[in-house]
Amino acid sequence: MLLRDFLKEGSARLESLYPAPEAMNIMLMLCEERIGTSRYTHVVEPDFSIEDDALSGLKDDLDRLSSGEPIQYVLGCTEFCGLRFKVGPGVLIPRPETEILCMEAIKACSSKRNVRILDLCTGSGCIAWTMALKVPGASVVGVDISDEALSVAVSQDFSKELDESGAQAPKFIKADVLGDPSAIGEGGFDLILSNPPYIKESEKTLMRPNVLDHEPALALFVPDDDPLLFYRAIARWSRSLLAPGGMGITEINELLGTATSELFSDHGLTEVSIIKDFYGKDRFARYSSQAS
Ligand SMILES: C[S@@+](CC[C@H](N)C(=O)[O-])C[C@H]1O[C@@H](n2cnc3c(N)ncnc32)[C@H](O)[C@@H]1O
Repeated sequence: MLLRDFLKEGSARLESLYPAPEAMNIMLMLCEERIGTSRYTHVVEPDFSIEDDALSGLKDDLDRLSSGEPIQYVLGCTEFCGLRFKVGPGVLIPRPETEILCMEAIKACSSKRNVRILDLCTGSGCIAWTMALKVPGASVVGVDISDEALSVAVSQDFSKELDESGAQAPKFIKADVLGDPSAIGEGGFDLILSNPPYIKESEKTLMRPNVLDHEPALALFVPDDDPLLFYRAIARWSRSLLAPGGMGITEINELLGTATSELFSDHGLTEVSIIKDFYGKDRFARYSSQAS
């Protein structure tokens, strides 16, 4: 089958789920990953033909995509901060906006040595691994309650990057962030980062079926009557585990920027500020612990 016909047929099937340009983009990503074609192969080589044995695998992938499964689960990987992360059902697909959190955190570490970093609600470990690999000398701990998420976080394969940089792999711990911070032992962290669940149950109606039907609810939702429960817990863990003068950065619900800032201030954290995302929405809260 010609590549251009497969792309055309596939994107037409996906157009019931995605806007046309996104459907084509997903098809291009699939072919790029599976058969090594580029975004322009079908244009510059209109007669490019897909080998029969590759085609049957691609058709299976297309069936999964047509059922609404995200492309990242079908491929088993995604890119985040220039690194390739394994993902699969049971673990949240890292989002591009969370890269802003990592960039801010890396900036905050630029003048420090041997920083200790805690990543609460680590999921795939995308924040923890990014910090471990991009902040020289960092030691990083990632925490999650989900066994599935932790097994993905631990299994990320950055052996080449670790060898090249001499960085230390993060340590991953199973703990309930809504519980007692002493669960992870010693504090004294310079930086606490988190992208916790923050979408209200009532906001489900605004979300696409490919997220709702495939990504883990545990990673996404909080009750409408207590949408800030993870931020109360993060404030508590920060009070208890941040070194004096340490910093926290957490992703937040865009509609709750003011309420989240007030919560951190009310818990005795200082220098609370909001960072916006690519769309100008309130997306992160930054705070410090009192210097001693
Ligand atoms: C929004 S996802 C973030 C994952 C990852 N940090 C990222 O940015 O892609 C939230 C994560 O919180 C975890 N989680 C949910 N409830 C938790 C709890 N009570 N304690 C610890 N982790 C929890 C979920 O398993 C999920 O991995």
